[in-house]
Amino acid sequence: MSLETLRYLTPSQVRQLATEYGTPLYVYSEQELRQRAEETLAFPNPFGLTVRFAMKACPNRNVLKIFAEMGLHIDASSGWEVQRAMAAGIPAQHISLSAQELPANLGELLDAGIVFNATSLNQIRVTGETRPGHEIGVRFNPGLGSGGTNRTNVGGPASSFGIWHEQADEALTLLNQYNLRCVRFHSHIGSGSDPEVWQRVAVMNLDLVRRFTDVKTLDLGGGFKVGRMASEKSTNLQEVGKPIKEALQSFAEETGRELHLEIEPGTYLVANAGSVISRIQDKVSTGKEGYTFFRLNTGMTDILRPSIYGAQHPLIVVGKEQDIDSTREVVVAGHCCESGDILTPAPGDPEGLLPRLLHAGEINDYLVIEGTGAYCAAMCTHNYNSFPDSAEVLVAKDGTSRLIRKAQPIETLWEREL
Ligand SMILES: Cc1ncc(COP(=O)(O)O)c(C=O)c1O
Repeated sequence: MSLETLRYLTPSQVRQLATEYGTPLYVYSEQELRQRAEETLAFPNPFGLTVRFAMKACPNRNVLKIFAEMGLHIDASSGWEVQRAMAAGIPAQHISLSAQELPANLGELLDAGIVFNATSLNQIRVTGETRPGHEIGVRFNPGLGSGGTNRTNVGGPASSFGIWHEQADEALTLLNQYNLRCVRFHSHIGSGSDPEVWQRVAVMNLDLVRRFTDVKTLDLGGGFKVGRMASEKSTNLQEVGKPIKEALQSFAEETGRELHLEIEPGTYLVANAGSVISRIQDKVSTGKEGYTFFRLNTGMTDILRPSIYGAQHPLIVVGKEQDIDSTREVVVAGHCCESGDILTPAPGDPEGLLPRLLHAGEINDYLVIEGTGAYCAAMCTHNYNSFPDSAEVLVAKDGTSRLIRKAQPIETLWEREL
């Protein structure tokens, strides 16, 4: 495997940010965020498009605001996320909720104007009981899914997400019973999906939509694969979207119904716009038959994906004072007392170790973990071993940086304890 290189930071910027803000530190690039947002806004569509940022990927209000300013709406996956987006100034009408668990204040959120997708027959029933006659969307499990790993596949019989596609009759009966107008159709088949499966499912959805005659909007979810490592490929949105556009056109010719298209990318918008700057705080070896380990001052408390998915992230050593030429193979470990806290698992196998060729750093050199904009600050083992949450910084287009989340004060770990 060849050495990975920094994507948007420079070594001197890494040193400067680490000195100014300390490590571990999440760093996001505004330029990358904006560029990806523009690409999603150009997704092929014949009758109008709404792009929703799946905020679960990176919910910092500063990121939400950049996307909102560019015209993106929000996909929330819990009532709490809806509240968080509203607290960041996103209008309720721009937030859609597709959740595994119904919020206790569903009625209030519906009255405030959020767009709601029921993800089970029971959710249709409860919505009907809470606000009969309301507009609603339904999320279906189309019977087929695809994810970068089995754990990120959320379609097919092994997934509890959405209403099983063979239960469309029951869904229609419930909608009629409560006089609910089903105006949206929603599906999401997984993260890091195979583009070919994604397209196939999109077209399969249209067959179901035929039976839901009030549907005006088709939301195809997120799941666009992003290459974090140089060897991995990213989805070409223009290519993936072309057959969708054609399918919507044919559907309109056949039925007279011009469906508005929505997509809900999370990963695509933020994954490669974020990095974590960490410090090599120790080095250990397990002898001739073993490994050389870098121990970082970060780990599963900031980046969990390698530990649970065997996900691969670019790792770049940056010398504290100057660039390093020599290389060596190392295993990179996180700072938790947990053997699974590892940043160099074998691909797709969190239990396997795969030493990585890196610049031969020493204690106190920096190690930058890239591709950490999605599902890292948002999805990690917050506060395990009582490590506080790390700070987040945004690098603006002109290269200046600003703090967008403070590091967690240690007292907040115990202040709610009674
Ligand atoms: C309903 C829904 N939409 C969108 C997304 C975003 O997926 P991705 O980050 O793969 O684009 C998710 C991710 O879990 C989701 O559950």
